[in-house]
Amino acid sequence: MQQKIVILDFGSQTTQLIGRRLRDLDTFCEIFPYNKFPYDDPDIIGVILSGSPFSVYDPKAFKVDLSGIRGKYPILGICYGAQYMAHTMGGKVAPAGTREYGRANLQSFEKDNLLFKDFDDNSQVWMSHGDTIVALPDNFRCIASTDKVQYAAYQAEGEQLWGVQFHPEAFHSMQGIQLLKNFAVDICGSKQDWSAASFVESTVAQLKEELGDDKVILGLSGGVDSSVAAVLLNKAIGKNLTCIFVDHGMLRKNEFHDVMEDYKCLGLNVIGVDASAKFFADLVGVSDPEQKRKIIGRDFVEVFNAEAKKQTGAKWLAQGTIYPDRIESLNITGKVIKSHHNVGGLPEKMNLRLCEPLKWLFKDEVRRVGRSMGMPEHLITRHPFPGPGLAVRILGDITPEKVRILQDADDIYIRGLREYKVKLNGDDARRVLAAGVPANMKNGEIEVSLYDQIWQAGAVLLSTVRSVGVMGDERTYEHPVALRAVTSTDAMSADWAHLPYDFMANISNEIINKVKGVNRVCYDISSKPPATIEWE
Ligand code: XMP
Repeated sequence: MQQKIVILDFGSQTTQLIGRRLRDLDTFCEIFPYNKFPYDDPDIIGVILSGSPFSVYDPKAFKVDLSGIRGKYPILGICYGAQYMAHTMGGKVAPAGTREYGRANLQSFEKDNLLFKDFDDNSQVWMSHGDTIVALPDNFRCIASTDKVQYAAYQAEGEQLWGVQFHPEAFHSMQGIQLLKNFAVDICGSKQDWSAASFVESTVAQLKEELGDDKVILGLSGGVDSSVAAVLLNKAIGKNLTCIFVDHGMLRKNEFHDVMEDYKCLGLNVIGVDASAKFFADLVGVSDPEQKRKIIGRDFVEVFNAEAKKQTGAKWLAQGTIYPDRIESLNITGKVIKSHHNVGGLPEKMNLRLCEPLKWLFKDEVRRVGRSMGMPEHLITRHPFPGPGLAVRILGDITPEKVRILQDADDIYIRGLREYKVKLNGDDARRVLAAGVPANMKNGEIEVSLYDQIWQAGAVLLSTVRSVGVMGDERTYEHPVALRAVTSTDAMSADWAHLPYDFMANISNEIINKVKGVNRVCYDISSKPPATIEWE
């Protein structure tokens, strides 16, 4: 049994953050749309109702009947979740005079209430709401107030039901994690046993039961997600798993060969398909970024399908989809936060059932799972790489020669990032360690490579641009290469990485001296938004 807390999502942007915080407390949780409570799941130990962009009075507000869960599980309503319960259980919610946003302090709170166990006086919380509760239902009592918000928190008498109008998941709620811990551990009884190893054990057991003797095919990309999914499935069903790795010709230098070797060492049953000639032929003369993506997506599906058809009797298609990939489809307010990138999408007519063993995990959790299965570090810490590969890093049309130039420049850059070591301390060190980078703290310092310190890096060939240069006594008229490196936690927003000048100087020299066809190197200093990580 894998105990879990269910988070019902009423559309708040911080719903995922609640999940994140619970996982950090080694408590497994799953997020469901507000109206899709999994009634038949026997492993639920508690329920959290999230915030929402709507007011309870908004005609578009999400409404749901909570009678099936009230009294059955401990419930914690956060912001809208708290207001919705107060509103529907006999209390009153009204617009706040002014929107209550930002820091506040709990001036009074019930010290012996389990929800506030180990709380400090005047604990700082983060408010963000336009409505406020003005009257509690009859049998509810106020358990905390701030100077502006009388009912900052409440509990239903004799019930395991709480509401807080502030956001414990927000960074600025100083004891927010303590509150979530109090709820998850002291109230719901979480054993805090969610770990990478326990995930592997329970997922392998589930996969064995679900898949039995069925055959499964899986598309590998060389990236961490599909690789971890493959190793997990291999543990569960062994040779009934066939992996297909398509080379579209626009991977990094030597990547197809190197990754195939890695996969073989991991004991995976992998078919490598070199389809680069087809992709290059279909891309001749195409420079529009969306066209490129479409052609590559279509070709990928064709090649993958043709190979998959040879696997007679396959019943399942496995994918390395992870939780952030699904945010768009889960986002119930209809606002597109991030467009869903997936080469070619799911081959719809394959008549295969879908198996996504990592669909509840965040990226750093996938990495932890990979490590716990003994996968090599370079495969686990590999930066994300777009499905269409270097095609979206070459401005203009694609030719094998341009790919060769970019592969050489990119290879120098990435190797340089791996070789350059930096010492980090304080918050920088903690952020890198929290992301799962293996490094030992010595005297408050860790040493990591620039590569491990950043989320993603790559070179971009500006093949539609030419600039004049001079090499020896020769005038040159060649292309610039732009280097990109960003820090991020989920690719939804990103900042350009502040790489050391001496590193940039050396890399620039090495690229210009060694890569024929490049006479200028620039560094991209745009954050996302407004720019995107990839240039196309
Ligand atoms: P952007 O450029 O949208 O990228 O800021 C966000 C993240 O998604 C990756 N990316 C892709 N991944 N197919 C993919 O599988 C794609 O077409 C694609 N486009 C961007 C990008 O590398 C970054 O990690």
